[in-house]
Amino acid sequence: MMKKISLITAAVLLLNINLTSAEIIGDAKKGKTLSATCAACHGIDGNSPNAQWPKLAGQHLNYIVKQLQDFKSGARENAIMNGMAATLSEQDMYDLASYYSSEAIKGGTTKADLVELGEKIYRAGDKEIGVPACMACHGPAGKGNPSAMYPALAGQHSAYIANQMLLFQTDKRANDKNTVMRTIAKLMTQEQIEAVSSYLQGLR
Ligand code: HEC
Ligand code: HEC
Repeated sequence: MMKKISLITAAVLLLNINLTSAEIIGDAKKGKTLSATCAACHGIDGNSPNAQWPKLAGQHLNYIVKQLQDFKSGARENAIMNGMAATLSEQDMYDLASYYSSEAIKGGTTKADLVELGEKIYRAGDKEIGVPACMACHGPAGKGNPSAMYPALAGQHSAYIANQMLLFQTDKRANDKNTVMRTIAKLMTQEQIEAVSSYLQGLR
């Protein structure tokens, strides 16, 4: 009996070792080279110059990889990005993510008249209509949480954030696990979305 159990343990250990050695490691230098095709939209260092295109600088490696996998599989729909991700290998995705996550995001500003409402939604939510505090997952400084796959939001373009909230609200972006963001976005008013998006653009 003991022998059987230790054999099983050994098999499980071996399996774990195999899983670990199969893990892909990103190479930021290769990622930088690959990013030449992305730079026109996302900026040379991942600080996109256009508010419709997200900044990737400083975003978590595993979140970037998940988004690229989702664009490739079609789980996240966007005509431009579905095309861009189609030819990327898993290794390319890790290399690109490694590069962008190692760059520093350049933040923006919050519209003065939206600070109060934006901060309230971000830090406390709206209990009356059931909106949770964004901070609970995205962190007090908007840095997210890589181990839970919660993306960083601080410094992101407000137009991009507001658009993603709208896409979640209308089920056009549907790659959020357990419909977490779709559920939250559907509870929110347009005014709340605009305020929290502007607040996040200026958060650092
Ligand atoms: C022609 C412009 C364009 C090019 C080139 C482009 N992207 Fe994008 N990218 C976009 C747009 C627009 C979005 C937002 C899509 C949406 O609304 O869902 C996006 C979204 C993303 C996201 C999701 C970010 C997030 O915060 O969820 C990642 C990651 C990404 N792009 C990586 C890349 C990489 C890597 C390349 C190069 C291989 C690339 N993109 C090339 C326009 C572009
Ligand atoms: C229970 C945890 C949780 C809470 C609370 C939460 N989020 Fe999220 N959020 C997530 C997860 C998980 C994702 C990543 C979805 C995916 O995998 O594509 C996400 C993604 C996002 C994105 C997309 C980011 C990008 O780069 O494309 C935005 C924008 C966002 N959240 C805004 C908010 C706002 C605003 C609030 C508060 C009103 C909020 N979130 C509250 C978990 C949460």
